[in-house]
Amino acid sequence: MKTLTNHSKTLTKTTASRAEITDFYNEATSDYSFWSKDLNMHFGYFIFGKTNPFRRDSMLNQMNRQIYKRLQLPKLKSFVVDLGCGMGGSMRHFLKRNPTLSMLGVTLSPFQVKEGNKLLEHTNGIILEENYCQTSIANQSADGVIAMESLCHSGHSKESLREAYRILKPGAHFVLADAFLKKTPATLCQGASYSYTKLCKGWSLDGLGVISEVKENLQQIGFSNVTVEDISFRVAPSVLHVPFAIVGFLLKNIFQGKTLKHQSWSNLKASFYALLSGLHLNDFGYFIITAKK
Ligand SMILES: C[S@@+](CC[C@H](N)C(=O)[O-])C[C@H]1O[C@@H](n2cnc3c(N)ncnc32)[C@H](O)[C@@H]1O
Repeated sequence: MKTLTNHSKTLTKTTASRAEITDFYNEATSDYSFWSKDLNMHFGYFIFGKTNPFRRDSMLNQMNRQIYKRLQLPKLKSFVVDLGCGMGGSMRHFLKRNPTLSMLGVTLSPFQVKEGNKLLEHTNGIILEENYCQTSIANQSADGVIAMESLCHSGHSKESLREAYRILKPGAHFVLADAFLKKTPATLCQGASYSYTKLCKGWSLDGLGVISEVKENLQQIGFSNVTVEDISFRVAPSVLHVPFAIVGFLLKNIFQGKTLKHQSWSNLKASFYALLSGLHLNDFGYFIITAKK
């Protein structure tokens, strides 16, 4: 208890180095094929009567659909950037939906660049190994920018939000889907503080932004019409898949006689702490933020 008390008092932000993030995704990305056959590395969006809560990929792809809709892209020939694109799951979903679209994704992981680009062959999409806080993308070139569960690695830093602003065309939208804190880290309850630290450590996160501060930062940067939607209850059914996915993944590896890499253990532990964090509804929430340049 003592450590927990100290913890919640002193906890501000954790730090994850770029090397740690890269190493984590180089080694643990292939495990995500167990989470999603489409290699979506995010949680899902549940709509009663529309998505089957027992079919994970239907909810994960519904999240892609929701993000796409909020981009409000022009009808023809648009260009969209995915900041922290993983294996390009959302990119492939968008490109399939809109044949006139071209997309560029950035990630820190060379594994994701190599394998993700194989899956994007014969599409108008490409993944580059770049830092989303400082990309090589031209000013005011994108008709839309998305960031799904990726900016948490930099604590939803102002730097990453500014980069989204820089590359967007005036009038275009930035759509961000992620978990956020509802209060400052120092004021989280003990249980939330404990699972938050474990979650950040396991997934190499710099920390989650405080939702009110992130909204303010977006407005300060110059975004207008900043809409914040709390979709925690829509995301919950896919979060509830976590324990089953963990047990299934472990059993599969045991039957195949494989030993788990430490990155895979970190991933499993962080997934479990994500579930625990999600139970602290006063402290954490899952939000979609839409902002116009
Ligand atoms: C949980 S995955 C989400 C992937 C994808 N958005 C999805 O939903 O399937 C987080 C991604 O963020 C990327 N990432 C983290 N920090 C980054 C940075 N500074 N620059 C570029 N990509 C980064 C990781 O490489 C990884 O691809």
